[in-house]
Amino acid sequence: MKSTPKNRKLQKTALGKIENDFNLSTSDLRGVMRDFRLEMERGLAGGKSSLKMIPTYVDSPTGRERGEFVALDLGGTNFRILEISLEGGGRSGKPRIMKFVLKKHHVTGAGSELFDFIAECMRKFLRKYGAAGRRLDLGFTFSFPVKQTAVDSGELVCWTKDFSARGVVGHDVVALLGEAFGRKGVDLVNISALVNDTVGTLVAKAYEDAYCDVGVILGTGTNACYRESLSRVKKWRGSFSKGAGMIINTEWGNFNRLKLNKYDRYLDKHSENRGFQILEKTVSGMYLGELARLAIADLAGAGSVFAVHGAGIFTEAAGAARLFKSEYMSEILEDRSRGLRITGRVLDALGARGSTESDRRVVRIVCEMVRRRAARISAAALAAVVLKMDGRLARRHTIAIDGSVFEKMPGFEADMRLALAELLGPRASRIR
Ligand code: BGC
Repeated sequence: MKSTPKNRKLQKTALGKIENDFNLSTSDLRGVMRDFRLEMERGLAGGKSSLKMIPTYVDSPTGRERGEFVALDLGGTNFRILEISLEGGGRSGKPRIMKFVLKKHHVTGAGSELFDFIAECMRKFLRKYGAAGRRLDLGFTFSFPVKQTAVDSGELVCWTKDFSARGVVGHDVVALLGEAFGRKGVDLVNISALVNDTVGTLVAKAYEDAYCDVGVILGTGTNACYRESLSRVKKWRGSFSKGAGMIINTEWGNFNRLKLNKYDRYLDKHSENRGFQILEKTVSGMYLGELARLAIADLAGAGSVFAVHGAGIFTEAAGAARLFKSEYMSEILEDRSRGLRITGRVLDALGARGSTESDRRVVRIVCEMVRRRAARISAAALAAVVLKMDGRLARRHTIAIDGSVFEKMPGFEADMRLALAELLGPRASRIR
């Protein structure tokens, strides 16, 4: 777009609309906290709720646990197998890790193909690192909504993050893995625990830090777990002693009481799991780039950006969907170069060649708006979880957070901290 005063004014108005679409005021966020709390209570009571509030059969560690363990971490297209020794006193040895990449047919084909591939990788790992004849205990981190029935069994409720392997939903994933181990001759491995990645994150940090009582993932998907008193888990049917606690997997990605804009609604309508994982679709790495892309495409359609040379993937064409990855958003948010040259290179590679500096500034501002809203929603949900445990914030809380959005998206953590302070005041400093 040529930089005439009239054009600048038009561009400002168009951007103002998008800002409005992605804006959440303090009072909106307080509304999110209130609704989140209600949904948590309903989920814990076994009522209808977008928060599943799944008992995990796991409590925080004491830090004194010892032994050698194998862990299998499956939650996206990259997966890892590792062996680690816990030495007590909150200390652990350096893990031995092997990484693998799942292909599309593993993720969307028959479930047996997925589990057979995992079993094959396990065989490779044991060939390299296993000690012959020694039985090993395995922790299986399976990062999807699972209705646990014991610490070592649970049924997949639904797939998320574009997984759709057949014959897994409604089945015990530990049994499916065990059968695949049988088919591939992996013996001497006991699958002794099934955990969500948030639970693994919480427990790993709590092993060395007794204040850690929340685990959060802000990556391809998003979710959180926290430690709850069993007496407050109204749907719990087992017995428990006074003061006993358990980690609860909230599956917060499915929280659905959020103010949505037209880009959110479009994204949901064209997703694999329409109507589900609404919070995840506003917050996680799988979707942030697409939200920014849709908003920028709107500006391009109105001639407010890329008017000179074409908009590349920033169009309404179905083939362009999801091509603006959240990683590109991170590169743009990181760009400190003069005239935003790095942003220009990213845009060139995406077909929006020859962008003007003004185009690049607009793209960056949209990325900031999308990031800011995601961080603010995450902060409101986190604040609700912490206040559920400790309404006056009388204690310290360490939150263990992992995932590419939190770790790699410039400004995300800062936006989240600002929102926590806005919602909790000076008491926010009790949250580490
Ligand atoms: C899954 C959660 C998981 C989160 C982060 C979500 O899509 O439903 O179980 O914890 O992604 O990996």
